[in-house]
This record gives sequence, structure tokens and C-alpha cells, in this order.
Amino acid sequence: NNHLVIMAGGVGSRFWPMSTTSKPKQFIDVLGTGRSLLQLTFDRFEGVCVPENVWVVTSAAYKDLVSEQLPEIPQGNILCEPCRRNTAPCIAYVSWRIKAKDRNANIVVSPSDHIVMNAEEFRRVVKQCLNFASETDAIITLGMKPTRPETGYGYIQADLSSSSPRNKEIYRVDSFREKPDYDTATKYIKNKSYFWNAGIFIWNVNTIVNAFRIYQPSMSRIFESMLPLYGTSKEQDEIDKRFPECENISVDYAIMEKAEEIFVCPADFGWSDLGTWGSLLAQTKKDLYGNGVIGDNVSLYDTHNCIIHTLDKKKVVVQGLDGYIVAEKNDKLLICKLSEEQRIKQFSEGDI
Ligand code: GDD
Ligand code: MG
Repeated sequence: NNHLVIMAGGVGSRFWPMSTTSKPKQFIDVLGTGRSLLQLTFDRFEGVCVPENVWVVTSAAYKDLVSEQLPEIPQGNILCEPCRRNTAPCIAYVSWRIKAKDRNANIVVSPSDHIVMNAEEFRRVVKQCLNFASETDAIITLGMKPTRPETGYGYIQADLSSSSPRNKEIYRVDSFREKPDYDTATKYIKNKSYFWNAGIFIWNVNTIVNAFRIYQPSMSRIFESMLPLYGTSKEQDEIDKRFPECENISVDYAIMEKAEEIFVCPADFGWSDLGTWGSLLAQTKKDLYGNGVIGDNVSLYDTHNCIIHTLDKKKVVVQGLDGYIVAEKNDKLLICKLSEEQRIKQFSEGDI
């Protein structure tokens, strides 16, 4: 059976003041569509697996937000982490939890803060990767064509002569490099065999569980030893006790950079990681002057290339800005140059 795992434990600190620890961006209707990023993620997989097989892994603090926003999925499928340990422990936990329920599950793991333009093409690609994973021991990632030397992504070097006889769209991976420095990324994007890792992973439950056994033995022992407790009333207590022992590491460093049987499916469905205000501007319909406005009561004069974000009824007037973020929520207001947006993490320190 196909299962979907949505990772929803991040805090989105570069999206302050919209995103805060009490309500991070994945729970917010960032695009003004009426659905939060988490809900849009769930919607995107419609028909790929049944709601009973959708799992959300998040911080204990967000459990109620998840069950409010996704009433379709069983309460027991919302897995709660007692502390943040990045994506490797998150994936290890849910993988053993799924294995306890369905020994041959095929799994797609997805972030909760991405945008996909062509959902139909997205589902076609994911379904064919799930098929491939059900027949092989492959760890599969989706590869996006890089358009800039982004240092916040992982890079995949594909062996483009290696398409598998089982599937012409899936290639062997020569190497996986998480978040390279700027010079390395610049070199990579000149070479056609490099792709961005979309952060969407597809595998069979036994493949990923074995990869954790080999590459993260101490982490895997924690979750494997809990096998008899999954689905029982003792699960949460034991997780609360053992989860903090896990190393704080992303799956990209913990598994992807190390594993051997990795495959990539290059795809083109209009993808963006909504990581910063600038990435939101890139995804927003712009006016004649390059401004992206999200909000109902905004007036702009002599203003260019700005992202303006306000989701309550407040009237916002901006005059004379070029290349700025203007974002407000409740009693907080941010005005910041788009070119300095990586620093928002620091600016919000202590307040997020
Ligand atoms: N449950 C849980 N627990 N979820 C988490 C945690 C955690 O501790 N930390 C992060 N997440 C969730 C985030 O909410 C997000 O949906 C997803 O996991 C990915 O985490 P990010 O922190 O956004 O990762 P990234 O963007 O730096 O890098 C990853 O994604 C890139 C593409 O967007 C990597 O996989 C890169 O290789 C990839 O290019
Ligand atoms: Mg991200």
C-alpha cells in the first residue's frame, strides 16, 4: 500500500512575522487561497494514497493545529516529537511506526512548505516512483532543474547514461551533496547532470529502515526497540523518553550523502520551496511594477518589486519603495530589503 508522510515540524524563522513558533508557516494560508501550506500539501496527493495512510510528523505543540486542519486523517497518524531533532529522527520514527502497521508499505515523504504548480504532473511522477520503489531497493528523490547557485538546497549528480530498464525516467545517482558553498554550487549548475533535491523522497519501508540500520545504527535501535509499543497507549511516553537521545541531523546528511542505491527522477512540475519572502514574491502574481500583494486593503504608490503581505483587514499604504518586504501580522511589522532577507532569522531572534 502507498503511504504519505508529511514533515511539518519546522518553524519557518525566515518568514517572520507571519511565521512564529506558535503558528509556523505550514499552518498558515500564506498564498491567500483559503488553504494552509499543510492543507495544500495534503490536497496535492489526492488519489496517491487513502487518508488512513497519511501520516504527519510534527512537534507535540502543533498536534491540535494538524488535527483541526486535516480532519480527514486518523488522530493516531499524527506523530508528535517532544523536541526538534531535524528530519532524520522524524523519518526514522515514522518509518518504524508505518512498518508496525504495514510491513511492505511504499512511502512518499514530503515537506509541508512547498508549492507545486502542476499537481497532475506531480502525481504522475510520484506514482511512477512509488511503483519503482515497490519493485526495487531504491531510495528515490525528485530532481529539479537548478536555475541559480542556491546554497540552501541539496544537489544530486545523476548518471544520465544509466536510466533503468524498468523505468526510462529514473536514473542512478553518482553523488549527493547537501547545501554546498556558493563556488561549488556555481560549478554544479553549469553541468547538466546536476539537479536540486526537491526534498521529496520515495522508498519501500524496508529499504529506508535498512538504510537507517546501516548508516544511523544508534538512532535506528531506538525506534526498532519500540516496535511492540507502536499503536499502543505506551507509544507517546516512550517516544518522549527516547526521542531526545537522537542526534540532531537532517536525512540529507544522515542517509542521502551516505547511501549507495540512490536514484533520481528529474521532473518538471513547477516547484518552489517557500523558504523566504523572496521565494513567495517569485510565486505571486505580480502587478505591472513587479509588486506581489497578498492582502485585501493595500494601496501602492511609486512602488516597485516589493512583496506586501497582510492577512487581516488592516489598510496598508506604501509609497516610494523598491525591492522591499512589507509584512505585518497582529502587533508586528517588518520592513526589510529583499536582498537582506536571510538576516530576518536574526532580527526575529527572541521574538519568534
Ligand atoms: N517533523 C519534523 N521535525 N519536521 C521537520 C523538522 C523536525 O525537526 N525539521 C524540519 N522539518 C520539516 C520542515 O517543516 C519542512 O517541511 C521539511 O521538514 C524540510 O525541512 P527544511 O528545514 O525546510 O529543509 P531545507 O529546506 O533546509 O532542506 C531540505 O529541502 C530542500 C528542498 O526544499 C533538503 O532536503 C535539501 O536537500 C532540499 O534541497
Ligand atoms: Mg525547506
